[in-house]
Amino acid sequence: MIDLRSDTVTHPTIKMREAMMTAPVGDDVYGDDPTVNQLEALAAKVTGKEAALFVCSGTMGNQLAIMSHTNMGDEIITGKMSHIIQHEAGAYARLSGVSAMMVDTAKNGCITPEDVRENIRAKDIHHPVSTLLCLENPMSDGTVVPLEKIRAAAEAAREKGLMVHMDGARLFNAAAALAVPVSEVVKDVDSVMFCLSKGLCAPVGSMLCGKKDFIARARRNRKVLGGGLRQAGILAACGIIAIEEMSKRLKDDHDNAKYLAKMLSDFEGIKINPDSVQTNMVWAKIEKPGFKDADFVNYLKKRGVLINGDPGLYYRFVTHNDVAREDLETAANLIGTYLESQ
Ligand SMILES: Cc1ncc(COP(=O)(O)O)c(C=O)c1O
Repeated sequence: MIDLRSDTVTHPTIKMREAMMTAPVGDDVYGDDPTVNQLEALAAKVTGKEAALFVCSGTMGNQLAIMSHTNMGDEIITGKMSHIIQHEAGAYARLSGVSAMMVDTAKNGCITPEDVRENIRAKDIHHPVSTLLCLENPMSDGTVVPLEKIRAAAEAAREKGLMVHMDGARLFNAAAALAVPVSEVVKDVDSVMFCLSKGLCAPVGSMLCGKKDFIARARRNRKVLGGGLRQAGILAACGIIAIEEMSKRLKDDHDNAKYLAKMLSDFEGIKINPDSVQTNMVWAKIEKPGFKDADFVNYLKKRGVLINGDPGLYYRFVTHNDVAREDLETAANLIGTYLESQ
């Protein structure tokens, strides 16, 4: 199968599987797992933060950040289309008891300092207290936010005493696209979550990084959520390879995404702008009279290509370690043949 639905479908590499076999382990709830400790030290180092915590998933990392930066009844500010709002099942309200002020980022492409200032609550007993700004980089659609825009939004939040968290699920993709070290991308935020799975190919796990006292609170809250793992070193071993090695190849995914976008843009009926591709995600619209979504997706599936989309709105193609250029050519040819036959 040529699976272009997401980079979450990547399989752990052979080297990761071998590392799992031999990783020294211990009980991580006691702090005894040397491989987890090594991974947490590495994540803190690459992000330039004081400490890091290995967590089960990106969602858990974001939710622990919210839980550890806020008090029940507070309010967070974040993008209306952010992962925290759209894809975490309302966990901020359920687990942390906070409300969310949602910024429509469609106009400016990201959260601006004006958005932050407009959405911070006045100090008044009627209002919740604004305590946390949550940014994303890359944003959920794969676009990268320039560093000066991150800094400006973070400064506006800090002026009013808010903390700043970054959902950096694909943080290494942002760093590769901006051609800067990861620590540069996160230097203006208090905490960051990044995923070891997705494009970095680890089977499980994300990292939450920030100040020591924040990570100590998050470690306790991780226990509250049942996320304290025991011999987690067999997973952390993959995380170390993800950071040290797999992060270095992400530019290939970005180049492949551009290559695919370029091929698709030659077909009539498909709306796509190859210049808008910044990381490993390609978005396309199909505008052809009589075009049927289910037919299209099934046609590709029967021929070994999996894609994701929101019928009538867009299709998403994600490049990753398990798809080569030839696979993209195969997929593009099939898409072209289908569209011609319509
Ligand atoms: C931007 C963003 N944040 C957070 C997550 C959550 O990661 P997980 O699926 O590991 O919970 C994802 C997952 O795709 C994501 O795209």
